[in-house]
Amino acid sequence: MNLEQAEKRIEQLIQEIQYHDNLYYNQNLPVISDREYDALYQELVKLENQYPELIKPYSPTQRVGGSITKNFPTFQHNIPFLSLSNSYSIEEIHDFILRNQKLTEKPFVFILQHKFDGVALSLHYKKGILTHAVTRGDGTKGDDITPNAKTIRSIPLQLKGNNIPDDLEVRGEVFMHIKDFEKLNQERLENGEPPLMNPRNTTSGTLKLQDSKEVARRKLDFVAYYLFTNELNFLTDFEQLEQLKLWGFPVSEHNQICKDIPEIDSYLQHWKEKRFSLSYDIDGIVIKINELEVREELGSTAKSPRWAIAYKYEAEKAITQLESISYQVGRTGVITPVANLKPVLLAGTTVKRASIYNEDEIQRLDLHENDYVIVEKGGEIIPKISSVVKEKRNPQAKKLEFIKNCPSCGKELIKISGEANWYCPNSEGCNPQIIGRIEHFAHRKAMNIDGLGSEIVTQLVNAGIIHNVADLYDITVEKLLPLERFAKKSAENLYQSIQKSKEQPFEKVLFALGIRHVGENLAKKIAHQYPSLEELQNASLEQLIETPDVGETIAKSIKDFLSKPENQQIIQRLKKHQIQFQKQNNTENLSNKLKGITILFSGTIPGYKREELVALAQNHGAKVLSSVSKNLQLLVAGEDIGPKKLEKAQELGVKIINFDEFQKMIE
Ligand code: IVH
Repeated sequence: MNLEQAEKRIEQLIQEIQYHDNLYYNQNLPVISDREYDALYQELVKLENQYPELIKPYSPTQRVGGSITKNFPTFQHNIPFLSLSNSYSIEEIHDFILRNQKLTEKPFVFILQHKFDGVALSLHYKKGILTHAVTRGDGTKGDDITPNAKTIRSIPLQLKGNNIPDDLEVRGEVFMHIKDFEKLNQERLENGEPPLMNPRNTTSGTLKLQDSKEVARRKLDFVAYYLFTNELNFLTDFEQLEQLKLWGFPVSEHNQICKDIPEIDSYLQHWKEKRFSLSYDIDGIVIKINELEVREELGSTAKSPRWAIAYKYEAEKAITQLESISYQVGRTGVITPVANLKPVLLAGTTVKRASIYNEDEIQRLDLHENDYVIVEKGGEIIPKISSVVKEKRNPQAKKLEFIKNCPSCGKELIKISGEANWYCPNSEGCNPQIIGRIEHFAHRKAMNIDGLGSEIVTQLVNAGIIHNVADLYDITVEKLLPLERFAKKSAENLYQSIQKSKEQPFEKVLFALGIRHVGENLAKKIAHQYPSLEELQNASLEQLIETPDVGETIAKSIKDFLSKPENQQIIQRLKKHQIQFQKQNNTENLSNKLKGITILFSGTIPGYKREELVALAQNHGAKVLSSVSKNLQLLVAGEDIGPKKLEKAQELGVKIINFDEFQKMIE
C-alpha cells in the first residue's frame, strides 16, 4: 500500500467506525458485532502506526487518552455561559408561563427537557472537526479540557451529514450513568480507596483529571442541548435539536413540546415519579420557549435568560430511625459500615439500609444510637443518610464509635496511614476475606472459573474443602459429591472449569492474585513489562516504582504481596498445578535487540503517542522506566526534552540518543 492508498483507507475506516460509534453510543442500535468492530479498529491502528503522519485529530484512536496535562489552558467563551433561574414551586412555574404569554403577541410553545445533574460543557467545531472542549468556569471563561472530552464516546470528533457550518458551538452536559458510578465506587472500595460521593461530583472531578487515560476509563456520557452558529437559520429549539441529531450528537429522547400549563404539569409530574428509573440523575426539568424569535424578543438578564426556567425537584427525603450499624468485610479486609434503618417508604420503595462509607462519615453526621436520620435518594440503589435530626435525639443516647475489632473474626482493626478506611489484618483467618479472595480469583475477568460464584465458594470454604486459591486445584469430583447441591454432573462441571482455568494467560493470573491496586488493566501492563512472575519478583522496589503507571503506592503493594510467605507458598502450589506464571512464548516480541535494557522516552516524538513508544520498546525486549535515575541505561530524547532531565541523565552517565538512532537500534 502506498501513502495515497493508506490515506484513502484510513479515511474510509474512520468514517465507518464513526458511523458505528454513533449507532452504538448515541442510538443504542449497533448493527455489527464487537468482533467486526474490533477488526476495523485494529486495521486503523495498524495503518496509523505505519503512517503516523496520517493520524487525524478526529480519528477514533484519539479517544483512548494518554496525555498528561499539567494545567488546562483558559478559554474565553465568545458567548457567555448564562445560568437558569430556577424554582421549587409549581406556582412560580405557572407565573413564568403566564408572564411570558403576556409579554409577547407572537404564538409560541415550550420545550421541556431533563435537567441533567452533571457538568456543562461547550464544544467548538471548525469545519465539522472538534477543536476545543471548554468547561463553563465562571461563565465568561473556562478550562480547555479537550483531551479529556475526546475520551467521551458520545461526543462526535467529526460531524456527519449536511449543512455543516465552518464555525459551530454546541453546549450540553457531561454526566455519569449511575451504574458506572457504582461500579467505580465498588472498585475503589476493593482497592481500599475512599468512595466518591455522587455521580455529579465524580463527573466534575473526572473532567479535571490530569491523566486523560483515567478519564477514558471512567466512562462519561454527554447530551447536547443547544447550539450557536451564524451560518444557519433555525426557527425553533426543536429544529436545532433535530439538526444536532443528524450531525451525530446525542440528544435526549425525553425532550417534549408542551403547549400549555396542563401539558407542562403532566410532564413535570410524570418525571417527578419516574426519575428514579432513569439511568442518570436529574435534579429537575428545564422549561424553555421553543421559538427562537420569541426568545430574542424576551432577552436575558445579566444572569439568565427570561425565556427559560428550571423546575427543581426536592430531593426525595424521608425521616426514619437508625436501628444499628452493620460492618461488612471486603476481600482486602476493608471494613464498610452500613446503616440498618427502621423501614421507611422513599420514592416508591421501602428503604431498610443506607450507605455510610467509612468512619469519617459517621463523624461528619455525628451519629448517635437510635438517632432519627434523614435519608435521601439519588439514583443509587442504596440511599444515603444526609443528616441527623438532633432535636429528636434522646439525651442519653451514646455517640456511635466505629468498631475496634473485626465483626467476623474478632481481630483488632488497623488503619493504614493516609486512608479513611479501617482494615482487618487477619487475612488468613477471616472468612469473608478468604471467600472474597477466592471469588475474585474465580471471576470472569480473572481465572474465569465458570460455576464458582459467591454461594459455591462460601459453601466450599465452610465445608473445609478450600481455604485459599491453591486449594481449588486439589478439588476432585469425589470431594464434591457428598456436598449438598452437587450431583455428579455439576461436580464434574465445576472440576472441568477449574482445570480449564489453567489455560488463562499470565496477565489474568496476575490480576487474579488480588494484589491491592493491581486491577485488570494494570495487570496487563505489568505482564508486558515483566513477562514472568520471576522477573517481577526480582525487580527492586525502585525498579517497580519507575515502571509506567505503577508509582510508589502500587510498587509497595506488589512487593508487600510477593514477600509474604503465605503468598509465596500459594504461588508455589499454583505453579505446581501449571498455572501460567509466564507470558506465553512472546509471539508479540519482534526481536530481542533491546533485551534487558532500561529505557526512557522524553519529549515529543512526532507521530508517536507515549503508549506506542512504550509498546515499541517492549516489543524489542526493553524495560521502560518513567523517570531518569541510576537504573536508566538509555534515554531517547524527543524534540522538546527538558534541560533538567538532560543534565541529570548526563550526570548519571545515561546514554542519550535521538529517535533516529533508536530506530536504527531496532531495525
Ligand atoms: S439550558 C442559558 N438545558 O443547568 C442557559 N441547561 O442552571 C441554558 N442543565 O449550567 C441552559 N440540563 O449545565 C439547559 N436540558 C438542559 C440542562 C441544562 C442541565 C444545566 C446546565 C446549566 C445549568 C443551568
